[in-house]
Amino acid sequence: MKGIVLAGGAGTRLRPLTYVTSKQLLPVYNRPMVFYPIQTLIDAGITEILLIIAPKNAGDFLNLLGNGDKFGCKFSYEVQPHPDGLAQAFIIGERFIGDDNVTLILGDNLFEHNFTPEIQSFKSGGRIFAKQVADPKRFGVVAFDKNNRVTSIEEKPEQPKSNYAIPGLYIFDNTVVAKAKKIKPSARGELEIVDVHKAYLREKTLDVRVIDGKWYDCGTFESLFEASDLVRAKALKKQPLIAKQEL
Ligand code: TTP
Repeated sequence: MKGIVLAGGAGTRLRPLTYVTSKQLLPVYNRPMVFYPIQTLIDAGITEILLIIAPKNAGDFLNLLGNGDKFGCKFSYEVQPHPDGLAQAFIIGERFIGDDNVTLILGDNLFEHNFTPEIQSFKSGGRIFAKQVADPKRFGVVAFDKNNRVTSIEEKPEQPKSNYAIPGLYIFDNTVVAKAKKIKPSARGELEIVDVHKAYLREKTLDVRVIDGKWYDCGTFESLFEASDLVRAKALKKQPLIAKQEL
């Protein structure tokens, strides 16, 4: 299993902070944001990791992360010239993915959940995750049956079929590259991850697992603040999300 951290994008909702740096380099309490998704992959046993970054600030990512040695990992880098959508990660990452399966995590997502069982037990198809939220209309929403088979996926629905949002970590088999190449840009001009999910759903090979613990996408001032607050609270309780001193 290989891992991709998608850390490009424009970060318009965090302006003016993101005029001078990338969203994923901003602090979440005592670490740069991108450390958390990297740590989530490492905790699940993934050590071959591709970072997809925007051209602006690319050197800062290299300075911060290097070749991955201090994380006990091998890092590779690719540049995404424009933020053309999450599903483009599989096209940009084609050579890196090779013949393997791949877990994609968004560079601004912070999880308490440990994904080891779901990643270790993955064989083929697609696997997404579900987290109960109060305001599903703001998210991609998944509905599913008692066997964890996905029955519907909707993007920011007016009348959600469930209150389970789809967080930013997805596990796919190697066919994801071919599937991503077939996607056409949406009305907002992006290759949408939800269209990858739907391709697996059509093949009836998409399953879902409900996650435990807190989940934040740190893309707004409110969620960035809440995520920092969680990290601080855990650090004070001596249960840090990132335990390694040197990181
Ligand atoms: P978003 O939060 O959807 O987009 P954004 O980061 O550009 O922020 P804003 O909406 O405020 O302008 O992106 C989710 C994550 O995916 C984030 O880590 C950035 C990353 N991303 C890319 O790397 N490339 C892309 O083409 C897109 C759309 C997002």
